[in-house]
Amino acid sequence: MLVSGKEVLRDALEKKYAVPAFNFTNMENLQAIIDGAEEMNSPVIIQTTQGAIRYAGFEYLADLGKGAAQRAKVPIALHLDHGTDLEYHLKAIRLGWTSLMIDASKCDFETNVNIVRQVVEIAHVLDISVEAELGVIAGKEDDIESDVAIYTEVQDAVKFYNETNCDSLAIAVGTAHGVYKGEVKIDFDRIREIKQEINIPLVLHGSSGVPEYMIGKAVESGINKVNFDTELKLANLKAMTKFIEENPNVYDVRKIFKPCRNAMKEVVIKKIKACKSDNKS
Ligand code: 13P
Repeated sequence: MLVSGKEVLRDALEKKYAVPAFNFTNMENLQAIIDGAEEMNSPVIIQTTQGAIRYAGFEYLADLGKGAAQRAKVPIALHLDHGTDLEYHLKAIRLGWTSLMIDASKCDFETNVNIVRQVVEIAHVLDISVEAELGVIAGKEDDIESDVAIYTEVQDAVKFYNETNCDSLAIAVGTAHGVYKGEVKIDFDRIREIKQEINIPLVLHGSSGVPEYMIGKAVESGINKVNFDTELKLANLKAMTKFIEENPNVYDVRKIFKPCRNAMKEVVIKKIKACKSDNKS
């Protein structure tokens, strides 16, 4: 069923687990997420970046996401990931997205606060929850890119939350978007300290390539939403390359997409277990 982001994250906050959030751009990608979530009896967030919307079309992704969620046996929220332009938020609301992220993290503190407030004011009238971001997460996720990481300061997070009234907060604690070049290091103490001060769902971005035990530790420290994108893309590509190499004469794309969908579903199941969201639907 299609549910609000608020509903799935409220339960995760209360029961101390994280809802995995997976990016999608096409049908096979989405089916892998939903099949995996149903098999594990887990709530899940399906999310689209502005880049995915430009690629597939706003209305098309709305139909795909909402249709799949409404048919699913588990609670599913449809979320706008890294929305930077107000026009995307307004259109997402109109088309039925049930959760929004406003990412103004590249701006200075006051500007970030003012932009987030604007989206919160509109979204809360319609009871739609808003995720914001404070600090800078390194790496690249569609329109968002940074070579450096700036960790979120505890007192800044408190001030930011009090001034914006956002529903959830993405914090920079060591993860990076995309493929990791070095060893992953997460500042678990910082997660705990922020959570102690503001008891709202905290969000971990850039979670592909983070070992599962570390995801588990981040969840125990206070993370309630974990974003995964790159690992699904890599699993898809690897399965596709392997199939085409082994079956150079097959031109029926359904045969090519099937192992890709299975490979993505395996990733989904692994991440659900790491987030401890299995059997929480
Ligand atoms: P990864 O691509 O590193 O998994 O990050 C996804 C993400 O944070 C989406 O917002």
